[in-house]
Amino acid sequence: MDLTTDYMGLKLSSPIIAGSSGLTNSVEKIQKLEQSGAGAIVLKSIFEEEIVFEHEDILKEAEAAGVDLDQFDYYDFHLKGEKLNSYTDLIEGSKDAVSVPIIASINCTYSHEWISFAQQIEEAGADAIELNMFFLPSDFSRSSQEQENMYFKVVERLLDTVSIPIALKISYYFSSLGQMIKRLSNSGVAGLVLFNRFFSPDIDIDTLKIKPSFVLSSPGDLAISLRWIAIMANKVGCDLAASTGVHNGNAVIKQLLAGAKAVQVASSLYKNGPEQIRVMNDTLTQWMENKGHNSISEFRGKMSQEAASNPAVFERVQFMKYFS
Ligand SMILES: Cc1cc2nc3c(=O)[nH]c(=O)nc-3n(C[C@H](O)[C@H](O)[C@H](O)COP(=O)(O)O)c2cc1C
Repeated sequence: MDLTTDYMGLKLSSPIIAGSSGLTNSVEKIQKLEQSGAGAIVLKSIFEEEIVFEHEDILKEAEAAGVDLDQFDYYDFHLKGEKLNSYTDLIEGSKDAVSVPIIASINCTYSHEWISFAQQIEEAGADAIELNMFFLPSDFSRSSQEQENMYFKVVERLLDTVSIPIALKISYYFSSLGQMIKRLSNSGVAGLVLFNRFFSPDIDIDTLKIKPSFVLSSPGDLAISLRWIAIMANKVGCDLAASTGVHNGNAVIKQLLAGAKAVQVASSLYKNGPEQIRVMNDTLTQWMENKGHNSISEFRGKMSQEAASNPAVFERVQFMKYFS
């Protein structure tokens, strides 16, 4: 059975990608994911925020120690070197240890400061970069137009800096989501990941403190990404990968039928261990056998909005007569 798929010009032995998380932050864990049948690995993100905070600390220390801040460039450079070294070590170590594509991940907001890192990530051997870019649209001083423009500016800068494929992992917090996905898909990125899952706050009513809400997704969380993969499948200028709520092989099949080139999994691997990828691959293989498909291309997108017999169903949003 041929489970191969092309994603961002990379040949994947399986459409199941281990998504960026704490499970992809060491060579040992990455080896286990490959042994379990992952088609590619997205490394734990390097965070712009972490770098900037550490940067500020070093500047404070330097100032307190009476260091001439004209040497700012030196500290700046030195800091970047240190932070990135462990990340480039992870890329190099992973590339030596496994044969599946290694996708580095950068978490960023508005700043461009980290872009010089991308070059080093490419030099370290990463097969692609996934840009995990998000700012909650709660900044009342920026219009939606300004917020959206930032995505294009960052992508443009990154495209000028590296020649490996770039994927953009986005949220669904856009005022005109379909149009934004389409525009982003034509911005030069090779892939779009729909969608990221974020830390969300909850309130503890006993202690009256803020606590994290559910960190891991559940199978029901598949619906949002499934709808948008199906709607956008034949309208975009790049590959689509599905993320959020893919917990089993059936969810993988659904996303491929909707039109995804690949799926990403994280929560299910936290819950079930890396071997869950093998279970998912087995379910996919079995289903393909039952349906008489020899390769993914034979059925991918068969249930996209464009191909569906009732395309309107993907745009239905009200429960008009569900319990009547
Ligand atoms: C504990 C944890 C850590 C994560 N860390 C990252 C990260 O560093 N970068 C990133 O892009 N996504 C990160 N994610 C998001 C996952 O890659 C994934 O997009 C999200 O969890 C939805 O997929 P899932 O339903 O399979 O968990 C993290 C998720 C979890 C649960």
